[in-house]
Amino acid sequence: MSQQSLVILGIESSCDDTSAAILKNDTILSNVTASQAIHEQYGGVVPELASRAHQQNIIPVVDAALKKASVTLKDIDLIAFTQGPGLMGSLVVGTAFAKSLSLALNKPMVAVHHMHAHILAHFINEGTPIPKFPFICLTVSGGHTQLVRVNSPVEMIVLGSTIDDAAGEAFDKTAKILGFPYPGGPFIDRFAKEGNPKAFTFSKPQVGGYNFSFSGLKTSVLYFIRKEIVKNPHFIEENKADLSASIQDTILEILFKQLRKVSKDTGITEIAIAGGVSANSGLRSKLQEEGEKLNWNVYIPKFEYCTDNAAMIAIAGKFLAENQQFADQNISANARLPFVKS
Ligand code: KG4
Ligand code: ZN
Repeated sequence: MSQQSLVILGIESSCDDTSAAILKNDTILSNVTASQAIHEQYGGVVPELASRAHQQNIIPVVDAALKKASVTLKDIDLIAFTQGPGLMGSLVVGTAFAKSLSLALNKPMVAVHHMHAHILAHFINEGTPIPKFPFICLTVSGGHTQLVRVNSPVEMIVLGSTIDDAAGEAFDKTAKILGFPYPGGPFIDRFAKEGNPKAFTFSKPQVGGYNFSFSGLKTSVLYFIRKEIVKNPHFIEENKADLSASIQDTILEILFKQLRKVSKDTGITEIAIAGGVSANSGLRSKLQEEGEKLNWNVYIPKFEYCTDNAAMIAIAGKFLAENQQFADQNISANARLPFVKS
């Protein structure tokens, strides 16, 4: 591996996005993602279909990433892939591909934890400030909601997490009640911009420590809407914006209550957000506002690095390689890969 310039191929296939990226040192040369529209009609990700689509997409996506970056397979110094957590049938496609390529090219590989990668996306060089250690990262995706203390790129401690649904699930499940297609998070975001966040009040949980709970919100929205529809069958249609804004406001309040608490208790004021839900425009602007009020230095990922992508896998791979944490051919995908190695 050349020390001056390190070219990494990142591969992500944990859920329903097949993605490949080329990272040169800490700069992204390409980041190509094939999203799977097939799941929309089922209202959620169908694992068997996701796996099949990854098999179809992986070679064209890697090819496109190489071409876009103007590099060839010979230029690759390191292969980084998502080992887990995620859907088993999806993870095995990326893992098997990475292992074969590593063998064929005789190049080292590193196995990346998907949630670590969401956090480490902040270290992609975009010419903007990067968080200083230790920092707190609120990681909010379709499968996870965590408050993480990041001590270094390879030392992260989970301080709190959801006890039921993830924040992304809260968006998607309530969006489904409103009749939006899957994934509904971006639809709530869009309609919330035109609505009144205080129009309706939904239940907020009382959870200990730095944990979260979102399952009560879904139930509260469902019962409220059922009741209103009896009085007015057009209730959802007529109140789409206010409902979206109020749901989003409730989710953000639940998140920020714990975020403020963790910052106050730890004294850490370097605050980042990561994961698919960090694409939410309400969350992004609220973090800016809170940051100004509470003297936080806030870090918001570039939009394309919020939802699943291989650029974040490549940068996470760089840190693993720097720490000599290479994988060998015995590695396998792990749908429940633990956040901290025991
Ligand atoms: O990180 P991600 O792409 O995949 C997982 O690792 O889960 O996150 C996907 C989640 C979905 O629940 C999706 O609805 C949510 O991120 N999401 C959003 C927005 N964009 C994506 N939620 C709210 N507002 C958005 N703009
Ligand atoms: Zn993700």
